[in-house]
Parts: sequence; C-alpha cells; structure tokens
Amino acid sequence: MQELAERLTREFRSRFHDDPLLFSAPGRINLIGEHVDYNDGFVLPGAIDKQMMFALAPGRSDVSQVYSLDMAEGLEFSANTLSPGHHWINYFMGVVAGFQERGVAVPAVNIVFGSSIPTGAGLSSSAALCCGFALALNQLTNAGLAKIDLAYIAQYSEHRFAGVMCGLMDQYAVLFGETGSLLLLDCRSMTHTEVALPPAAGTLMLVDSKVKHSLASSAYNNRRDACMEGVDVLRRTLPSIQSLRDVTPVQLEENKSKLSDEVYKRCRFVVAEIGRTKAACKAIQSQNWEMLGKLIYASHEGLSKEFQVSCDELDLLVRVAGQHPECVIGSRMMGGGFGGCTINLVRTGQEKSFQEFISKEYFTSFNTMPAFYSVKLSQGAHKI
Ligand code: GLA
Repeated sequence: MQELAERLTREFRSRFHDDPLLFSAPGRINLIGEHVDYNDGFVLPGAIDKQMMFALAPGRSDVSQVYSLDMAEGLEFSANTLSPGHHWINYFMGVVAGFQERGVAVPAVNIVFGSSIPTGAGLSSSAALCCGFALALNQLTNAGLAKIDLAYIAQYSEHRFAGVMCGLMDQYAVLFGETGSLLLLDCRSMTHTEVALPPAAGTLMLVDSKVKHSLASSAYNNRRDACMEGVDVLRRTLPSIQSLRDVTPVQLEENKSKLSDEVYKRCRFVVAEIGRTKAACKAIQSQNWEMLGKLIYASHEGLSKEFQVSCDELDLLVRVAGQHPECVIGSRMMGGGFGGCTINLVRTGQEKSFQEFISKEYFTSFNTMPAFYSVKLSQGAHKI
C-alpha cells in the first residue's frame, strides 16, 4: 500500500509537476447473497485488503488527463463532451457525468492511478475505480455529497458508460466497508448492520479461475430482466409485491404455472438466496460454521443449476473443495458469475493443503493453474 502510494506520487510529480492528493478504494468480496441486490434482497459483502489508489490534483487546462500505471497508458477527456468511448476511461467519464447530473460543476483533473486488485477476477475493480474517484471529486469540488450518493454516482457510471445494469452491492461495500466485518446490507432500505467475522470462521481464500467470458455483461442484464419479468407476472395475482423480496417460497410455488420454466428457475433461486443470506448471518452470530458452510454450498448449487451463471471451471473448484470437509467449511462462486473467483472459508492451518489439492485437480482438468488470494476484511474507500 505504502509502496503503491509512493510510485503513484512519483509518477504524478514527473508527469504533472504538482503535488497530488491520495485516495484509496478497496475491492470487495461477497460471502453470500448473490444476484439479489437488484431484487431488494439482503447481501453480505465486505471490503478487502486489495485496493485501487489515485493520485490527483486539479488540472490547468480544460482537459482531464488520466494515466494508468498498470497499463502504462494515458488517456484524456473533457467534462464538456462526455460520451462513452475507449474502455477504462469510460468509468472516469461516467463518474463526472454523475456529478454533473446532480448539478455539480467538475473541473479538469490530472490523475495517476494503480491497483493491487486483480482485474477480471470479479473483485469489483471497476466499482473501486468509480467509488475512489467519486470520493476524490467530492472533496475536490466541495460538493458535500453523502457516501450513499457517491455509491449511486458510481453505479450510474456502470449503467450509462459501461452498459452493465448492476445493483448497488459492490459500490456500497467499497464505500462503507469496515475492518474485520461483513456488512449485512438491506438492499431495499440501503442500510447495513456490521457482522463481525471472527478468526474461528477460518481463512477467507479466493480462487481465481482466470476465466472471463466476454458475454458476461449481456448475460448479467438478461438475468436481471428475467427477475423483472417474474415480478410483472406474479403481480397479477400478488398485487402488493414490489420485488422478489416480497415473495415467499410458498407463493412462488402456487404461481409456478404462470411463469416460463426459465423465469421460474431464476425466481426460485432469488427467493431462496434471500432466505439463505439471513440464515447465514444467524449462523455467523451463533458461530455455527457447519450451518454456514451448508448455506454457502447451497448458494453455489442454485447459482449453477437455477440461475445458471456458473461455468465448468467454477463448478469444479467448488466440487473439489466440497470433497475436503476437513479443510473447507464452505465454497461457492462469487459475484456476477461466468468466471472470476470462488470464495472459500478454509479451516485455519489448512490453507497450504487447500491450495495443493485445488491446484492439482484444476490443472488436471483445465491444463492451467488457478490463482489464490487470501484476503482480510478491511476499511472502505478513504483519503490517505
Ligand atoms: C455484480 C454486480 C452486483 C451484484 C453481483 C451479483 O458484482 O455488480 O451488483 O448483482 O454481480 O450478486
């Protein structure tokens, strides 16, 4: 962290001959509660000790200049002509557009940024980028926006400039994360309670399948549409529901025949997953790790078979983890799906043997090695 901050500062000074402010924004994990944030459900994410960092200061021309240390690439944009264009600069432009939407004038800024969050691994590096930059702009412009507004601006950037109709879980976790705790986020009221994850729960280990499907964002939007279609149909007999959050498993079964098979499966997963997330919190609070593990595996089963956002590589990682209950408490795919990481609760002291048997089986099946990240729950985005 210190080293990245120094590298960014050096690069900033040599490019812009100025002293920067420094901001940091973490990646996120989600223990359970997948694809339910945009259904008003409950999720259990946390911020991690891998972060994106920004060195920035007001610019001296009309054009904002942004340099990515990791890609060794510099791009620029003008706040007067914002439209989606070249890949990563979109996220910066989207955040500026989000401030403008709220009536905040944004001056040109010079930025150097770099990251220790693996990209394409489903750890929300794009949410870290948008939230970190939004936090910085909030200070630079004296806009005085609340953290939740910054989360919505970051989400706006994903929706309008990257075309992914994501929920708010990632942005919320990146901005509100707390050291040592998960956040039980109620995605209807957009408020959270902290859920401390004690060391007895084991080590949080992510296994990166290194798979990234290019159609992931359209498939994501398609799952969201299926959930909305379910709500539209169910509303005809259940007029008071606003979202799948309001539907009980019994009500869903009673109305099964009105839904297409596909929409029914999607809804069934969401309704069950919301219940599992609440049960997982109780399991953590009562230190019932075996119950927590069961819920985590059940989440994966639903994501794979009913919501159908897993892939062979993720399924194998979870299956192999499940064959070693002496090492692993629970395992499932994490995030939007179609690649990225599995999240694993590994029993303390078993981390090395976990890596060995997972690597061996993964290599045998896919002729490539996965990557392992041991992560700690950390504080949300902040000024350094
Ligand atoms: C992505 C989205 C989130 C959430 C997850 C799935 O990370 O950005 O809003 O929907 O997928 O839980």
